[in-house]
Amino acid sequence: MGATQLCRGATWRAILLVFCLWGLISVSSAARLSTSRQKFEVRKHLNRLNKPAVKSIQSPDGDIIDCVHISNQPAFDHPFLKDHKIQMRPDFHPEGLFDENKVSEGPKERTNPITQLWHANGECPEDTIPIRRTKEDDVLRASSVKRYGRKKHKSIAKPRSAQPDLINQHGHQHAIAYVEGDKYYGAKATINVWEPRIQQPNEFSLSQLWILGGSFGEDLNSIEAGWQVSPDLYGDNNTRLFTYWTSDAYQATGCYNLLCSGFIQVNNQIAMGASISPVSALRSSQYDISILIWKDPKEGHWWMQFGNDYVLGYWPSLLFSYLAESASMIEWGGEVVNSEPDGQHTSTQMGSGRFPEEGFSKSSYFRNIQVVDSSNNLKAPKGLGTFTEQSNCYDVQTGSNGDWGHYFYYGGPGKNPNCP
Ligand SMILES: *[C@@H]1O[C@H](CO)[C@@H](O)[C@H](O)[C@H]1NC(C)=O
Repeated sequence: MGATQLCRGATWRAILLVFCLWGLISVSSAARLSTSRQKFEVRKHLNRLNKPAVKSIQSPDGDIIDCVHISNQPAFDHPFLKDHKIQMRPDFHPEGLFDENKVSEGPKERTNPITQLWHANGECPEDTIPIRRTKEDDVLRASSVKRYGRKKHKSIAKPRSAQPDLINQHGHQHAIAYVEGDKYYGAKATINVWEPRIQQPNEFSLSQLWILGGSFGEDLNSIEAGWQVSPDLYGDNNTRLFTYWTSDAYQATGCYNLLCSGFIQVNNQIAMGASISPVSALRSSQYDISILIWKDPKEGHWWMQFGNDYVLGYWPSLLFSYLAESASMIEWGGEVVNSEPDGQHTSTQMGSGRFPEEGFSKSSYFRNIQVVDSSNNLKAPKGLGTFTEQSNCYDVQTGSNGDWGHYFYYGGPGKNPNCP
C-alpha cells in the first residue's frame, strides 16, 4: 500500500496524525525521557538483583554483604528453576561419597589461609547466603543495564587457532594451559592470589579455570571460577573471588557471580565477588586458593568447592546443553584485556606482573592441577598444552614434581621493550 493511498481514508488520516504527534513529543522530550528511563531501568534492575536481606554486613572495603534467605536467592527467578528443589549438598565428591566431615580434612597446606574481607565485621546466619549488594554506581559503570554483570565480548582462548586474525580479538590476551580430546567431569587447581595493576578501568586481569563444552561457535558452554581485578565490575582494584557461566558463548545467557539467575548457592560463609585477603607479595608470603569444580554423577549438577572447607553450591545441569553431558576441554590460566591505550600495549599485569621464569614467590602459579574423569576420580591432566597470543607480553611455562604435581607459572607485565 502506497503512502497516498494510505492517506485517503479518514481513519488512516487520524492514525497518521496520532503518529505525527507522538513523533513530535518523543523528539522534543527524548533526552529527558532517556535519563529518567535509565534511572527507572537501573532501579528496576537493582530491585531484581538485591534480594531482601535478613541481615547486612558492612565490609571494610566498602561492600555491603546481604545475608539473603537461601530460598530467596537470584537463581529461583530463572523460569526453569521455579520448582527446583534445592540440594543442600552433593551426593558425590571426587574420590567417593560426599562426606561433610571429610571436606575439611584436605592435605595440610604449607601456604597461609585466605579469607574474605567482610568476615572482619560479621557472619551470615544459617539458612542464608552472603550476596554482595549491587549499588547504583556498579550498574551505571556498565555499558548498559542489560550488559551489567556480563562479559562484553567473547573472550575465550581457542588454543589451536592462533591465526593472526584471532590474535587480539577484542584485545583479550591469555596465558593458559589446557587439555582436550577426552570427556572431562571437572577440574581442580590451587592458584596463588595477587593484585595485578590495571592500567585502564575498562580492562581487567583474572586467573581462573574454564570448564568448556561444545564448539567455539555460538553455542559454547563454559563454567569459570577464579580471582579477578575488574574496576568496571566492582569499582575498585581489589582482588575478588568470582565465577562465570554461559551456555551460548557469552551472548544472552550467564553472568558473573550471582548477577543473574543460574548458580545455586548453599554456603553461608563465602560471597561471590567479595574481596579476598590477604594477597601474595613479591619475595614474601604466598597465599593461594584451591578451586574444585565437578559434576555430581547422580544429579548431574556442576558443584564448586573453594579451599578445603567450603562447598559453595552448584550450576544446575539444565542450564547447559553440552555441559549437561560432560566437558570437552579444560583450561587454566590468566586473561587480561588489552585496550591498547595510546595505541600501545597496555601495562595491565597478568598474575604477579612477572614472567614465569622468575619462579616461586615472584611469578604467579597454578599448582596441583587435575581433571575429574568419567569415574569421578581426580587425575593428572594428560597431554597438557599451553597457549599464549604474545609470549613477549604474557607467558606460560609448565612443569611437574612430587609436591606440586602438574603446575605452571604464568603471567607478565604486558607493555615492556619486547611488547611495545
Ligand atoms: C586502580 O588502579 C589504577 C592504576 O593502577 C589507579 O589509577 C586507580 O586510581 C585505582 N582505582 C581505585 C578505585 O583505587
